[in-house]
Amino acid sequence: MPNSYIAGLGHYIPERKVTNKDLETMMETTDEWIVERTGINSRYWADLEKDSTSNMGTRAALKALENADLKPEDVDFIIFCTLSPDYNFPGGGVLVQEQLNIDTIGALDIRNQCSGFLYGISVADQFIKSGMYKTVLVIGSEIHSSGLDKTTRGRNVAVIFGDGAGAAVLRATDKPDKGILSTHLHSQGKFAEELMVIEPSSISIHRTDNIPERIYPVMNGSNVFKHAVTRFPEVIMEALNKNGYTPSDINLLIPHQANLRISQFIQKTMKLRDDQVYNNIVTYGNTTAASVPIALSEAWQKGLVKEGDLICLAAFGSGFTWASALIRW
Ligand code: COA
Repeated sequence: MPNSYIAGLGHYIPERKVTNKDLETMMETTDEWIVERTGINSRYWADLEKDSTSNMGTRAALKALENADLKPEDVDFIIFCTLSPDYNFPGGGVLVQEQLNIDTIGALDIRNQCSGFLYGISVADQFIKSGMYKTVLVIGSEIHSSGLDKTTRGRNVAVIFGDGAGAAVLRATDKPDKGILSTHLHSQGKFAEELMVIEPSSISIHRTDNIPERIYPVMNGSNVFKHAVTRFPEVIMEALNKNGYTPSDINLLIPHQANLRISQFIQKTMKLRDDQVYNNIVTYGNTTAASVPIALSEAWQKGLVKEGDLICLAAFGSGFTWASALIRW
């Protein structure tokens, strides 16, 4: 049975940097409040004249392919992960397929919010292990800025989220000890309404009413926090136990960038050193499905992800959904 490994990574961040001070001009908030509660200093917002969730994903994918020394025509399958697609339907995967000018390969969309990229990695890994595909593109891309309530009413959500895209190319290898060792996926739908956007929705009788509570994300922040700090360590330990490792064996943990306080809590609970955990939420905010591939790509670019390293990816978010992947690089 072949194994799958990450052959290339890339990310794309839109140009417009929005600082906490900029947000102070839009809503009643302060730089101090945002930094203290979330650790975020800035985030980037897309320019809708030229950026879309799909084309940012395509830009990240092109870099990932280039870094893998591959061409779009080498891709057998596309997995596109987002909660902010260009259209309600069709999904972004087919748009990326067209933008990359690839022949009629399959394209799958994954809607698992902050855990989306890890669900995508898991699906790609299974396709490769089963022998169905040899090269799978997994993309996480988000534009939150056009869908946030940027008034004081929406401040608990609006200050957290940012835009961006990241991509990974997974390929088959015959080396049994290289690549994705295991993936672990979970969900708990009883908490679906703790972090959600209702509209546009097939169950809605308010479709045209533009009610703020229905068209903007709503979040029970303290409950999300409480579950996140439990589920992250749990799913990381699940991956380590499955493969006979302990936290001290991890070379780099890349947690979904939900909130710096959550990452710090995980680090403390798992007794990890600073150099074992990668965080970039300070600069980019929470980019949901794009956060893990952006962080992984950036860490790899900085030389923090090296051949032979044990890399752990983990995520938690709306659904609730949570997931992990353990990788021997
Ligand atoms: N600026 C200033 N004040 C704000 C604010 C903002 N951006 N957002 C909320 N507040 C206010 C609230 O209105 C409230 O005021 P009150 O006490 O007068 O009612 C006060 O700050 C505390 O609000 P609360 O929501 O209880 O704060 P908190 O300590 O729970 O922090 C979060 C809010 C969102 C930072 C925190 O709950 C959190 O990080 N949760 C996890 C979120 C997350 O990671 N989401 C992504 C999941 S993938």
